[in-house]
Order: sequence, then C-alpha cells, then structure tokens
Amino acid sequence: MADYKQMMLDEFAKAFGDADGVNVYFAPGRVNLIGEHTDYNGGHVFPCALTIGTYAAVKKRSDRALRFYSVNFPDKGIVETSLDDMRPKADDSWTAYPKGVIWAMTGRGLDIPTGIDMVVYGTIPAGSGLSSSASLEVLTGEAVRDIFGLKDVSNTDLAKIGQFSENNYNGMNCGIMDQFASAMGKKDNAIFLDTATLEFEYAPIALKDACIIITNSNVKHSLVGSDYNTRRAECEEALAELKKVVAIETLGDLDESTFEANKQAISKDNCRARAKHAVYENRRTIRAVEALKKGDVEAFGRLMNEAHTSMSVDYAASCPEVDILVEAAWKIDGVLGSRITGGGFGGCSVSIVRNDAVEMCKETVAQEYKDKTGLDADFYVVSIGDGPCRL
Ligand code: GLA
Repeated sequence: MADYKQMMLDEFAKAFGDADGVNVYFAPGRVNLIGEHTDYNGGHVFPCALTIGTYAAVKKRSDRALRFYSVNFPDKGIVETSLDDMRPKADDSWTAYPKGVIWAMTGRGLDIPTGIDMVVYGTIPAGSGLSSSASLEVLTGEAVRDIFGLKDVSNTDLAKIGQFSENNYNGMNCGIMDQFASAMGKKDNAIFLDTATLEFEYAPIALKDACIIITNSNVKHSLVGSDYNTRRAECEEALAELKKVVAIETLGDLDESTFEANKQAISKDNCRARAKHAVYENRRTIRAVEALKKGDVEAFGRLMNEAHTSMSVDYAASCPEVDILVEAAWKIDGVLGSRITGGGFGGCSVSIVRNDAVEMCKETVAQEYKDKTGLDADFYVVSIGDGPCRL
C-alpha cells in the first residue's frame, strides 16, 4: 500500500503541479462467490472485497471546479467540470462515476461547498466484471466524506450512494451488491447479505486446503446498456404476474416448491426461466453459506457448479467463452467448484481449487481455452481485503 501512496502522490503532482495537502484513498473491487442476479430480486448474495481496486489522490479546491485525471486513461487528459454544472455530458467517459457520486451526495443534502482535484488509478482489469465502477464510486464517496468531514455518512450510505448514482446518473439498473461489498469489505471474510433488508453477516472464508481463483476470459463485459437491464425487466415482469397468485413482495420471498406450484402464472417462457434462476439461486446461496459454516467446502463447490448452469441456461447471462473456462475447470480433479461471477455476458469465472491442483488447473484450463477460442485467459489467486480507507 505504501508504494501506491507514493505513486499516487507523484501522479497527482505530475497532473496538477504539486502534491501539498493531498490525501490518498483506496476502495476495493469484489468477487461474488455465489448469489448472482439475486440482489435486485430481494435475495441473498455472498461477495467478498478484493485487495485489488481503485486508488485516488484527492485535494480540496477553494473554488467550485472539479478536475479529474486517470492514470489508466492518460489520453483523456484532465476532465474539468463544476459543482454548478453536474449534468451528464457526452465526453464524461470514466468521470461519469465520480461525478455521479458527487451529484448523488449533494442531492442528499450533504454539504460539499468546494470542488476537488482527483487523480485515479485502478488495478482491476477493465471489463473483467470485478466491479471497477463500484470501487470507483465507493472510493469517491470515501474521499469526499473524509475531505468534507461528512461524519454522518456510514459505509452502508456509501454503498447506497454508489448504487443510486449508478442507477440514476449512469443508467445501469444494478442492485446493491457491488457497492456494498466494496464499502463493507472485511479481510478474509465474505459478506452474507440479505438485499431485501441489508442485514448481513461476515463469514470467514476458511477453505482448508483450497483457495479461490479468478479466471479472466478477457471477453469484456459492458453492463451499461447491455442485456443486464433487460434481465432485470424480465424479472419484474415475472414478479408482477406471480403477485396475482401468491402474496410476495420479491422473487426472493419464494421457495422452490411455491415457485414450481405457481410458475404457470408467468406467461412468457423467457421471464419464467429468469424468475426460476432468481428463486433457485437465492435458496442455493443460503444453503451454500450454511455448508461453508459447517466446513463442507465440497458442498459449497457443488452449489457453485449448479449456480453456473442456472446462470448460463435459465438466466442466459453467460457467454460461450466463460462456459468453456468453467466446463474445463469442472473436469479437473481438485477443482471443487467453478462458475461465472458478476453480472455476466463476459468477464470472469471464480473457482475453488485445492492448493495442490492450482498449477495444473491453470495450465489445463489455459490450454483448453486457447485451443477452443484462440484467447489467453488470466488467473489471479484471490486475497480477500478490507473496505475503503485513507492510506
Ligand atoms: C452486477 C451488478 C450487481 C449484481 C450482479 C449480478 O455486478 O452491479 O448489482 O446484480 O451484476 O449478480
């Protein structure tokens, strides 16, 4: 972390002249272990924060200007706007995320009297589905809270602000999972979150002789304007029809047998399949966390495998490349579970792999992936980290 602090101070000085009075912040990305597309359906999720994420060097200004620079996108240069003109603009590009958060914070009545200069650097591979945008949102919230002394803003508020800005400023109708995982992350723990109530508990990730591996398909997923919003709308349509025959508020209120007994109320095949995934995935997530608490890592892995099939077949939110990665992993002795993670339509798989099988798993999966797609996969062994902080 110390190295990143100095690097960010140097980058700030390069972009804006000097680094006097600059603070450096970090917020993590996340990987979701199980519970996909359940967070906007009133269900459960089980993500954990990563030690990769986004860094920012930030300084308060004395006027109302907002100036942003990204080390990852030097070609964009310094993007400048003002607190008095927060409308989205065509050339906002990545700055739409910090702008959206500041817009959402002022919209909540929080006092942000002056602008900021902000230099950003992300260590999450772009388009990997490991929540680079949520980490940037939580990071902006963390920095603004600290710099302007907004003591009443809790970490849960940071998550809500991030989600609100993403929904209403960036047009992506995401649930709360990514921002919550980033804002509430805890080293070596996953977060078992009920998205209907925001009640949560930390669950230590003790995998005995196994570890978590993320495999990046390097097929970029872009959720804004993608099928994600369509999936959400399909679930809403299914819920509206189900509500006519069962007393529920969300799909997360249903168990599998009540869903099966009432599913004919959903008129369209695609909406029925999406709702089935949401209902079964929620129950699977609850069972998976129970299994993990009992130390049954094998059962957890089997539920991950079921979750992948459900996401791929019923939710139609995988892609051929990630299916190849997951199916290649399933064949390997020592892989306890493997599934697509995050919003889908590209991005990464997450697998639980016995330590003694990790190298063989990487080689075998990489080779099969290359043979079948011509693409290179990247592998990362996961370290579970804490939430946002000032460095
Ligand atoms: C994206 C969204 C989350 C969640 C996942 C799918 O990451 O931002 O809110 O819906 O997809 O589980």
